[in-house]
Amino acid sequence: IAHGKPQRAPAWWLGRREQLLSLAQPGTPHYVYDLATVRERARSLSASNAVDRCFYAIKANPHPAILKTIVGEGFGLECVSLGEVERVFATLPQIDPGRVLFTPSFAPRREYEAAFERGIIVTLDNIEALQRWPEVFRGRTIWLRIDLGHGEGHHEKVRTGGVAAKFGLPMTRFDAFLEEARKLGVRISGLHAHLGSGIEDPQHWRGVYAHLAGLADNVGTIETIDIGGGLPIPYTPEAPEFDLALWRNGLDEIKSAYPRYGLVIEPGRYLVAESGVLLLTVTQTVEKDGVRRIGCDGGMNALMRPAMYEAYHGIFNLSRLDDAATAAFDVVGPVCESSDVLGRGRTLPLATAEGDVMLVADAGAYGMAMANTYNLRALPAEDVIE
Ligand code: LLP
Repeated sequence: IAHGKPQRAPAWWLGRREQLLSLAQPGTPHYVYDLATVRERARSLSASNAVDRCFYAIKANPHPAILKTIVGEGFGLECVSLGEVERVFATLPQIDPGRVLFTPSFAPRREYEAAFERGIIVTLDNIEALQRWPEVFRGRTIWLRIDLGHGEGHHEKVRTGGVAAKFGLPMTRFDAFLEEARKLGVRISGLHAHLGSGIEDPQHWRGVYAHLAGLADNVGTIETIDIGGGLPIPYTPEAPEFDLALWRNGLDEIKSAYPRYGLVIEPGRYLVAESGVLLLTVTQTVEKDGVRRIGCDGGMNALMRPAMYEAYHGIFNLSRLDDAATAAFDVVGPVCESSDVLGRGRTLPLATAEGDVMLVADAGAYGMAMANTYNLRALPAEDVIE
């Protein structure tokens, strides 16, 4: 029974057990974010000399306290919908619009109009928008998102380049885009590429910068090169820490080869994933055909990542942290889908029982942001701790 996977060493939340248990009291599912962790991650990125500006991809976690914390560290914010843009200005009415970047995908025309009215930076990734809505773009300054021809990342569903991906202008249409832009008096001041999410190779971003800088030299009007987000975090016990020093050195080197352009990154996950935990309450424990299952009051409705990407999150019994973990369990949610499994074969205390509080680790990115009300289950609650 007891050959489940080993689990990753606990992080900030281990010293906060009583506080978390009391936060879980009013009810679960419940997300809790530690702002000190967010701040620490933000500082670890902004310490890099080569990076001129960081925009936090708020899709990962748009909680107002998180936005305030990250903007307080000097970051801008990257948005992909008008809803996200409105969240930013509702939370930070005084924010300089130049610190807000709009990088939508297949957005309706009115969202581009609203973005230009706000004076935020707009990224476009197809020529058809210029052709269909010339009056929206005429005389504007934009950034152009390029498809460099391949995707990267932790799962096929998060790779955003290549023929199968809907994002980015393919290189075959680059010259045509420049020509169309010239006709409309559209100035392209930035080049952008984001190849995917959870990219483990620290050298990836220097390659993107080199590629875009080569193109930028031909455009003539480029001031900024945005090399996207996609920095990973180690979700599994075996995963190595991301080598931030190697990442930094790579950017330093490539930046000194092409010093002309401002270098922009737009990380999401890296800043917030490890700051967040999802608290759940055990509903039932059941054994069926030799498989033990711990049922929780939240599953793929509260945290979609395991069902959608077979993503790994550490799972712990917060009520019995001091008990030896001796038995293998599948940890499941209450949703009527076979994919509603948060973790398989996890080693947890044998005595785990109804009412225990379970903690799902590293859930601060794309957790609450992707939660849903499937089966008419309520959305999780959220709290932050300083
Ligand atoms: N920039 C653009 C244009 C993006 O599309 C994304 C993420 C980011 C930046 C931030 O990527 P990050 O640094 O967080 O990897 N739901 C998936 C991830 C989807 C990412 C979508 N785009 C997951 O839970 O793994």
